[in-house]
Amino acid sequence: MRRPDHPIQSLIVNRWSPRAMSGEKIKDEQLMSLFEAARWAPSAYNAQPWRFIFAKRETKHWKPLFELLIEFNQTWAKDAAVLVLVISRKVFEQNGKPLDTHSFDTGAAWENLALEGSAQGLVIHGMQGFDYEKAKIVCGVPDEFQVEAMIAIGKPGKKKNLPPEIQKRETPSTRKPLKELIMEGKYF
Ligand SMILES: Cc1cc2nc3c(=O)[nH]c(=O)nc-3n(C[C@H](O)[C@H](O)[C@H](O)COP(=O)(O)O)c2cc1C
Repeated sequence: MRRPDHPIQSLIVNRWSPRAMSGEKIKDEQLMSLFEAARWAPSAYNAQPWRFIFAKRETKHWKPLFELLIEFNQTWAKDAAVLVLVISRKVFEQNGKPLDTHSFDTGAAWENLALEGSAQGLVIHGMQGFDYEKAKIVCGVPDEFQVEAMIAIGKPGKKKNLPPEIQKRETPSTRKPLKELIMEGKYF
């Protein structure tokens, strides 16, 4: 059980990253509501630099995305319903000038998606364990975009169906104390 040191919305503290998924499909409507949540994230100049390339397991798009993952991630993400490649636009659409906050803004969008999915009872699990260079080629990512991360989305499954070493990690993690993270006025 997670216990925040200061009161926060339960939505935030209850979100975590399980790996056990059932392999069941997710309805398109539900998938779209996750992207809709991401869409409403704030961004510098409202540039909305986030883009999501998704693959549903029952389609031809699944295999190329799944094969980007490192072996460890494949062992559990095989039971996801959808894989998503998150990319961000590095330059403004209007003038091609650098958009310094593209990753920051896209991080906000990902968290919106994760919170929405978690609140809907889905597993939403971010991943950096994949081949970033290959992802660009496989998904045809244009040069003005940066590959940020992947996401596994699925219906919750049984912990006992995970490999034993992954079962041990199937529990919500804790966090550094706030005093290590915040500073008044200057760096410590
Ligand atoms: C950008 C990002 C990349 C991650 N990459 C992986 C990954 O490749 N494999 C994995 O099993 N978990 C991955 N995770 C999950 C993190 O380990 C997890 O979010 C972190 O331990 C905090 O736990 P919580 O999400 O359950 O609160 C990733 C999470 C994020 C946000």
